[in-house]
Amino acid sequence: MTATPPMKKKLTHLPQHVAIIMDGNGRWAKQRNLPRFEGHQAGVENMYSAIEYFSHLKVKYLTLYGFSTENWNRPEEEIDGLLELLREVIDEEALKLHRRGVRLRHLGQPERLPRNLQAAINKIVDLTKNNTGLNFSFAFNYGGRTEIVDAVRRLIAEGIPAEKIDEKLFSRYLYTADLPEVDLVIRTGGELRTSNFLIWQAAYSEYYFTDVLWPDFDKKEIDQALLAYSQRQRRFGGL
Ligand code: IPE
Ligand code: IPE
Ligand code: MG
Repeated sequence: MTATPPMKKKLTHLPQHVAIIMDGNGRWAKQRNLPRFEGHQAGVENMYSAIEYFSHLKVKYLTLYGFSTENWNRPEEEIDGLLELLREVIDEEALKLHRRGVRLRHLGQPERLPRNLQAAINKIVDLTKNNTGLNFSFAFNYGGRTEIVDAVRRLIAEGIPAEKIDEKLFSRYLYTADLPEVDLVIRTGGELRTSNFLIWQAAYSEYYFTDVLWPDFDKKEIDQALLAYSQRQRRFGGL
């Protein structure tokens, strides 16, 4: 008797909103005896590929975590390098993204970023606001707790009465006001934690953790994560 070959798993449905904690750039560089900055450069290159691939797959919303409120604790030299990289990304890639129909949003507090960077971000957000392709949100100087505190402050500043506040209204005061719930959170780099990422929005997301370091997280790895997602059964507390 011949054994039946295992059924090839099929991608049955795609998530609408994928959010990625792009971790592992430093270790990627270390493995190659390179300075950490080169790991971040490789990470940025991979970010472009990922954006392109998710666009191609017709995933509607992609959110990438590039810099957390806690990352200010890193050495000044590394922070300067990351800010410089973001500046280059905006200068060199923003128009390409625009031409591809990508709509860009920034999640996070702009205030602590250098003024010229804030201006450049506002410009590209405005330029792409009517685009109907991939919705790409970049979490930079983002912290989930800060986001919630900011929302509370705005609710109070606007004099919203306590009895009017419910989950739906509260969500509209977050940086992600016009984004749908996150279906899938991917974390590369092997750590099993959220590191303050979308702690409200990912309350019912599926999580996918992988040891693969961000610069190595290629199309094949994305396919695997999406396949794992499509095998999950989401119940949202029901049966
Ligand atoms: C992720 O890579 C990028 C940022 C947090 C800016 P890391 O820089 O955290 O890389 P590892 O975790 O040290 O390998
Ligand atoms: C999370 O990575 C933040 C980003 C990927 C932007 P970290 O490397 O900062 O997270 P921890 O410090 O390991 O929790
Ligand atoms: Mg890290």
